[in-house]
Amino acid sequence: MTTTPEKIGILVVGLGGNNGVTMVAGFLANNQKLEWETGSAGRVSGPNWNGCITQLPPKGGGVGFQGRYPLADAMNAAIGGWDIRPMPLGDALYESRVLDYDLVRQVREEMNSMDIMKGVYDASFLGETQHATAAHIVTGLDSFFEKVEHIRKDIREFIASNKVDGATTVIWSASVERPAEVQFESADELLQSILDSKSDCDISPSIMYAVASALEGCSFVNGGSQNTLSPGMSELYEVAYRSKSEGILSKFTNVSTKPAYVLGTDFKAGQTKFKTAAVEYIRALGLTPRVIASSNHLGNNDMRNLTSKKTIAAKMRVKKDIFEPWQEDELDHQVRVMYTPMMLDEKRDVVEYTSLGFLHCPHTMLTYTRCMDSILCVPLMIDAAVWCDFFGRYHSSSSTVARATAYLFKVPEGGAKGVDPGFQRQMNELEAALAATVKEEDGSSKKDLLILLKQGVASGIITQEQADSLKAIP
Ligand SMILES: NC(=O)c1ccc[n+]([C@@H]2O[C@H](COP(=O)([O-])OP(=O)(O)OC[C@H]3O[C@@H](n4cnc5c(N)ncnc54)[C@H](O)[C@@H]3O)[C@@H](O)[C@H]2O)c1
Repeated sequence: MTTTPEKIGILVVGLGGNNGVTMVAGFLANNQKLEWETGSAGRVSGPNWNGCITQLPPKGGGVGFQGRYPLADAMNAAIGGWDIRPMPLGDALYESRVLDYDLVRQVREEMNSMDIMKGVYDASFLGETQHATAAHIVTGLDSFFEKVEHIRKDIREFIASNKVDGATTVIWSASVERPAEVQFESADELLQSILDSKSDCDISPSIMYAVASALEGCSFVNGGSQNTLSPGMSELYEVAYRSKSEGILSKFTNVSTKPAYVLGTDFKAGQTKFKTAAVEYIRALGLTPRVIASSNHLGNNDMRNLTSKKTIAAKMRVKKDIFEPWQEDELDHQVRVMYTPMMLDEKRDVVEYTSLGFLHCPHTMLTYTRCMDSILCVPLMIDAAVWCDFFGRYHSSSSTVARATAYLFKVPEGGAKGVDPGFQRQMNELEAALAATVKEEDGSSKKDLLILLKQGVASGIITQEQADSLKAIP
């Protein structure tokens, strides 16, 4: 039986962003059992973990996984991370206007005193709107190799100083990057490019964070829409590859062989998640989806970064590709996103679904959703870290974990490529992986017990009779 850790680690790239600061405030509110006035529910007398399915106790309909499996308690997690902006976390939370002010004022000072590690930055990968605030960056390191080693040191220090005994997961919740113009077919090729550090090799900061995480045995979750993942990156995350002692890998010191996963791409948090549930429903009715006209508007810093042509291209790719595995060839799926500064983080999304029903008669549905974007996204970040810790403890394969967590991403990659995009089908994948993981372990612990009993009888420690009665215990 695996031991549930006391403390998992969550390292956020983009800690000072809306997601990062909302997550930190959520941990403080839960740990300190804060009370505050809300704009909608009056005075609330206790925080909650709503949206984090790993932290909720089971209730009717199979919802909530806490207690059903030995999952880490998020309450004890150590949180840290990097940002290229120097703004203290409490002030960034205040500026974001995501949470009620009465809560913000109670955590602002404490958050302002928290450490933010300097980010590894390359201006060419971000929208122009982000350049002016990028003043908290790692300087004096020229090569990709030195930068990767710097990030590795940050990760090691975080784990040691926080006494993390569970898995640490690094989550890319930083701004969307333009696509990197390199794809790595093998881990050797990827590591060679990091070592060579040729200036014409288009390696993005997210690739450097992901490589550093792999070498430290930490999972990496790509919450942004850029192309950080590649076949080479997936191979680097295989324990078998990291266990090699020769070749290019030997140029990197103290490579961890702990199980770790690289997951992505782009959190499927709100509009896209609901679309996959709605279209799954339409298809289950036997209708043919023909037009999905979808738009959203909001005014947060993530959207401001997407006002640049180079970054919006990355976002539109993942938003449009979501139904691909269903091969609905006649489906006209249109997506528009608008930057409307006044709305700040409170995204409005409108989707009209038109399908063909009996005798070609149309069937049309319209949905309208409003929610703070970070309130949709932060629970996925927490759950992703809890799942990575859980599956790592059972040494689950990379494809099992990619399929089980496909519901978290717009375009599930690696071993989850081609997984059904339907929300409920993806939840079934998760359920099946969890059940199989625990069952497998039960099977192997039973085998271990039988061997022990046999040895016990052979060496005269217990009698055959005692062994038989112990075997009979279910
Ligand atoms: N909120 C959602 O619902 C949602 C859904 C899906 C995906 N996402 C993605 O999550 C990410 C974060 O969203 P957000 O609203 O918090 O954005 P944000 O703009 O508020 O925060 C991003 C932060 O990343 C920092 N950053 C940029 N490059 C960095 C680097 N190289 N190293 C360290 N820090 C860096 C920025 O300074 C900024 O503080 C975005 O990529 C977004 O597209 C969000």
